[in-house]
Amino acid sequence: MITCSAPGKVYLFGEHAVVYGEPAICCAVDIRTRVSVAPADSITISSSLGTTDIDFKTHPYVSAVVERFQDISSLEGVSISIESEIPVGSGLGSSAAVTIATIKALDALLGTGLELDDIARMGHEVEQRIQGAASQTDTYVCTMGGVVMIPQRKGLDLLDCAIVIGNTNIFSSTKELVANVAELNDKFPDVIGPVLSSIGMMSATGEVLVNAKDYVSVGKLMNINQGLLDAIGVGCSELSSFTYAARNSGAYGAKITGAGGGGCMVAIAPHECVSEVAAAIASAGGEVVVTKATDIGVRVE
Ligand code: PMV
Repeated sequence: MITCSAPGKVYLFGEHAVVYGEPAICCAVDIRTRVSVAPADSITISSSLGTTDIDFKTHPYVSAVVERFQDISSLEGVSISIESEIPVGSGLGSSAAVTIATIKALDALLGTGLELDDIARMGHEVEQRIQGAASQTDTYVCTMGGVVMIPQRKGLDLLDCAIVIGNTNIFSSTKELVANVAELNDKFPDVIGPVLSSIGMMSATGEVLVNAKDYVSVGKLMNINQGLLDAIGVGCSELSSFTYAARNSGAYGAKITGAGGGGCMVAIAPHECVSEVAAAIASAGGEVVVTKATDIGVRVE
């Protein structure tokens, strides 16, 4: 049996603006999806959702990966089992993580010799097939790990502070939120255009601050980024209340991560404040994940 794992991710800066060509900074986080594969006579895929054959309703990403390997290898049977610490559908990159970990595990089992770039590319193709449209961000960051500036794919220094995530458990559709921002931008181009380029400037400024390990300033910029995300209509009252709870209990800064409208917020915090920040987000109603940045992308366990 071979087990591979891949990390989730958060956005430090730049979601939504990245759709308009502005830079963003993403950070792989140390919550992982593990996929184990073993030779078998037929195809079975098991997870907390159940056990299936190739099944695009229950296991769409893994099914699509299996079909890709049937194209490029002699794969007939395999037993695949999935365990994940990454909350599903909350903007933390759960679909990229399961896709990338499955690709790496099948690659190791079948000896197809894929390089990391090939794995990231195949993962992106699979996400596009399943979601219709997908940016390369999640699959790239999850494959490579670390803190990455997008679209430049430039690696920054690893964050050396705590990361506290608050999940609203409110479903939000990335597609819909991206469309809402586009509509606002069409209606008020002279207002929204500068907001999006300001967000891009935050990524550019953030790059220097992350590498300088100046987390007080990174946090301040994240708070400004949050204000602008609110301005373009992707906030919600739960996300606001979690971000204020985190800031008021010692976090350097806090903002939405990902598409917004629900999903998750992220705070960065000094190690000594983690329990206060986590407790504050929890008492505001958030499901809390305490984690840290990781430079370990996809790997064989
Ligand atoms: O919620 P997520 O993790 O899928 O992030 C969406 C990020 C956007 O910038 C809003 C869209 C995109 O494709 O980059």
